[in-house]
Amino acid sequence: MPDVTVTTLQEMKQKGDKITMLTAYDATFARAACQAGVEVLLVGDSLGMVVQGNDSTLPVTVQEMAYHTACVKRGNQGALLVTDLPFESGASAQQLHADAVAVMKAGAHMVKLEGGAWLAEPIARLAQIGVPVCAHLGLTPQAVNLFGGYKVQGRGDAQARQLRADAIALEQAGAAMLLLECVPSELAAEISQAVKIPVIGIGAGAATDGQVLVVHDMLGLSLTGRVPKFVKNFMEGQGSVQGAFEAYVKAVKDGSFPAAEHGFSA
Ligand code: KIV
Ligand code: NA
Repeated sequence: MPDVTVTTLQEMKQKGDKITMLTAYDATFARAACQAGVEVLLVGDSLGMVVQGNDSTLPVTVQEMAYHTACVKRGNQGALLVTDLPFESGASAQQLHADAVAVMKAGAHMVKLEGGAWLAEPIARLAQIGVPVCAHLGLTPQAVNLFGGYKVQGRGDAQARQLRADAIALEQAGAAMLLLECVPSELAAEISQAVKIPVIGIGAGAATDGQVLVVHDMLGLSLTGRVPKFVKNFMEGQGSVQGAFEAYVKAVKDGSFPAAEHGFSA
């Protein structure tokens, strides 16, 4: 068991201590993030873009997710390790189940799934076999082709209502954590209040229980030259990657990141 568990994160939410999360794909960066005090490491399928150079996360395989999970596990020092289930895991309920087991065997402590209320059944089934699930709502990059681009989600009354209902349904199904990506800050604040499980935001304002960024983004590295609005370059004013990680943790903990300029309006 890691030092940081689902219980730790629940306690942090109750106390109002901000949770810090960063993506990690290898042992060295995982170790550096832990030494800076990051509580949660995410082996994100963003590795399909930032590591593999694909133009979306869709080509990533579960074997690749398991490989990077094993790499991160070797560098981990006490953080909770969350691994994304890739696009291909959605092929069937059986596939999802088998892939969740595969990444847990590789060292994950929790899996992350993109999608809404229809994930209630898989989440409940995974909880039954001992797999905690983080539900990822809002801009779910595996659905980029459905959305017609990487666009803010949850704008307007109907979409906001849907997102709120999805969050509550997935908490009731047994989700251990919620991740909100690119949703209006006000809506993310409401959802964070409405559910008891920790809510981590990316492009979701400062009122969520914690924050996550893709490590390449927050180090000012960009393959495409396009930098999302919610990203801050933490290398600025720092002489090292370690310093940038420490600045990120400090800024999330003291509430200075994200600033209003990093968020979206309704
Ligand atoms: O894959 C990833 O890095 C993610 C984060 C952006 C939340 O899912
Ligand atoms: Na992801």
